[in-house]
Amino acid sequence: MSSEKKVSSNVVWHHATIDRQRREALNGHKSVILWFTGLSGSGKSTLAHAVEEQLYEMKCRTFVLDGDNIRHGLCGDLGFSDDDRVENIRRIGEVAKLFLEAGVITLTAFISPFRSDRERVRNLVPHGDFLEIYCRCPLEICEERDVKGLYKKARAGEIKAFTGIDSPYEEPLAPELAVDTGSESLEESTAKVIGLLKSRGILN
Ligand code: ADX
Repeated sequence: MSSEKKVSSNVVWHHATIDRQRREALNGHKSVILWFTGLSGSGKSTLAHAVEEQLYEMKCRTFVLDGDNIRHGLCGDLGFSDDDRVENIRRIGEVAKLFLEAGVITLTAFISPFRSDRERVRNLVPHGDFLEIYCRCPLEICEERDVKGLYKKARAGEIKAFTGIDSPYEEPLAPELAVDTGSESLEESTAKVIGLLKSRGILN
């Protein structure tokens, strides 16, 4: 599948008068994309929602884009072949970019197994607006937890191309943050993400 930027013919960009800066001023915080990546069962969604809870308490505008949920709608036509995963992350990248423009702290929780796809999203937005958070959790622990029972099915050959089993996961080489979701508590990981947001000047 081509990763080149596609633009429909005969379309002209219309500039909004209410732009990102004005929305950020209204919200009292900057917008950003927090891109959680890691194996299935590594705790991406759990962490993203825990961070969102804290941000909500701080009266921030937030939204979580979650892999399993998005595959019920926007990406419901996609499977788990390499090409479909590339397209999945391409679409989510574009959606996250819109949320960024909307002034929202956007938390995405997708396996996003391929480095090149994550880099493409990073390059889609201004420098510093994409913060990659690696939910580092050994496969053995994800498999032991097996919250959705999918690893068992993958081992039995009932699910093909399962990440970590017979489909690759490429670890981030230089994420803005890595959290050891296999060993540290949810509270510890959440505090680290909030700390990242503060250190980057996203929160006042
Ligand atoms: S991604 O690879 O394209 O980024 P995404 O995050 O949207 O994946 O969806 C992953 C979720 O789909 C997993 O958490 C799991 O619940 C489910 N799933 C179903 N089949 C697979 C598979 N073959 N590989 C990985 N996850 C799968």
